[in-house]
Amino acid sequence: MGITYKDVDGIQGMRVAGQLAAEVLDYLTPFIKPGITTREIDQLAADFMKKQGTTSATLGYQPSGYPAYPASLCTSVNHVVCHGIPNDKALKKGDIVNVDVTVIMDGWYGDTSRMFLVGDVSIAAKRLCAVTYEAMWHGIVQVRPGVRLGDIGFAIQKFAEGSGYSVVREFCGHGIGQRFHEDPQVLHYGRPGTLEELTPGMTFTIEPMINAGRREVKEFGSDGWTIVTKDHSLSAQWEHTVLVTENGYEVLTLSAGSPPPPPFVKG
Ligand code: MF3
Ligand code: CO
Ligand code: CO
Repeated sequence: MGITYKDVDGIQGMRVAGQLAAEVLDYLTPFIKPGITTREIDQLAADFMKKQGTTSATLGYQPSGYPAYPASLCTSVNHVVCHGIPNDKALKKGDIVNVDVTVIMDGWYGDTSRMFLVGDVSIAAKRLCAVTYEAMWHGIVQVRPGVRLGDIGFAIQKFAEGSGYSVVREFCGHGIGQRFHEDPQVLHYGRPGTLEELTPGMTFTIEPMINAGRREVKEFGSDGWTIVTKDHSLSAQWEHTVLVTENGYEVLTLSAGSPPPPPFVKG
């Protein structure tokens, strides 16, 4: 398709959509406790989106070769890497779950996800979630005009692998705007100085999927969506939508409930 560059109106549309997507996660946060099912989380989100006046971008989403996605968000628990479909299984103490929300407001898309710790979780699970969060930010802080997509991927990969983890290759971040998935692909691994050069007005997601074990993934079952780690190791993911500005970046999916950026991120 080609990269789209947002003008002032587009940027304002993306700010609003991004903020609203993040506010869905804020709203869900106190509910994500042992005993709730992911289907109940989905229903809470659907009701909240209705109040916001947003539409879920995932409900009915059907890229070619896929069945229509059946829910208002994705819930990926433990060794599920991404695209987990909400179901009637209750979350239990010790689980980690990624909740990934994409909303549409006035035609603009906002896409963001966070990890949630369900009750007390193991030190290993907590570290994976924390390192993945930092990995996302190592990518975000690269963003400014002149930098290339390979620099973002390299920064994420270096930090994640340096922490003893692996980076999923099959799924990536993406341009986003008035469509859910636009060019460019934003890989979470790579070589410095390679691939597309960033220019002001680009908006894309950074959403690394990091595995505690090997990087390989496979489809789970036959729902056509759920992706799990091949070795059943835990997987974590965080996602922000970002804008390339004249001198750096603006994160479009921050809200009151967003965790603070890690200390290496300058104001
Ligand atoms: N929100 C996901 C992303 O970050 C895409 C989910 S598509 C779905 O790109 F159909 F699985 F919901
Ligand atoms: Co995304
Ligand atoms: Co997403």
